[in-house]
Amino acid sequence: MSEEIWATVDDYLTDTLVRPDPSLAAAVEAGERAGLPQIQVSAPQGKLLHLLALIRRAETILELGTLAGYSTIWLASALPRDGRMVTLELEEKHAAVARENLTRAGLADKVEIRVGPAASSLEALVAEGAGPFDLVFIDADKSSYPDYFRFALRLSAPGSVIVVDNVVRQGEVANSESKDEMVVGVRRMNEILAAESRVSATVIQTVGQKGYDGFTLALVR
Ligand code: SAH
Ligand code: DHB
Ligand code: MG
Repeated sequence: MSEEIWATVDDYLTDTLVRPDPSLAAAVEAGERAGLPQIQVSAPQGKLLHLLALIRRAETILELGTLAGYSTIWLASALPRDGRMVTLELEEKHAAVARENLTRAGLADKVEIRVGPAASSLEALVAEGAGPFDLVFIDADKSSYPDYFRFALRLSAPGSVIVVDNVVRQGEVANSESKDEMVVGVRRMNEILAAESRVSATVIQTVGQKGYDGFTLALVR
């Protein structure tokens, strides 16, 4: 089966089930125009994040890896009126595009973008006593996933949901010989997850617009 049919079905599902949202479409366009990489979650995946936030009744959300704020909009739009989201981004250029996109979406006063290496921002959040976050979405540099997962645990509480993007990597995650630092990072995170009695987790493989990949869904107990 080819990537082409996965993309066709993703388009069909998006057209059929994901209601067009002008601020999401504008966010993707603004990212393209600014020359940002087009690596945001797909529309059905974005809606899954939105639904998970609704199911969890999340009032506080933490995201690692903002890019143009596409997944940020999906997540923040599931927050209640007084809900709050913090999203961490390394690149000022990405953050600037995201800021505009969030403003256009009417979500700027709910979302704080912190610019800098996520590890430093996470350390600062811990030091400030931030959290617990009801939902954490990890989607920044994959080689740091083990550290990010540990931080996510420190910043969450029983009942928190942790979602991690891009954890199958075209199937490379099953290759114990891989030297790819992204694959090594995901495999190390999986070892931490497996040994961690405070979380129950699964990984679901996905195909679609973004090729063959997968996501982790973890519940803090
Ligand atoms: N969550 C976004 C996509 C994120 S792409 C969406 O689905 O719409 C990954 C992002 O992580 C990029 O914007 C990249 O600049 C950022 N990133 C990479 N390394 C980082 C780091 N060390 N700290 C914070 N962000 C980082
Ligand atoms: C890629 C995809 C992602 O969803 C991401 O967060 C980072 C990179 C990629 O396809 O390269
Ligand atoms: Mg991703």
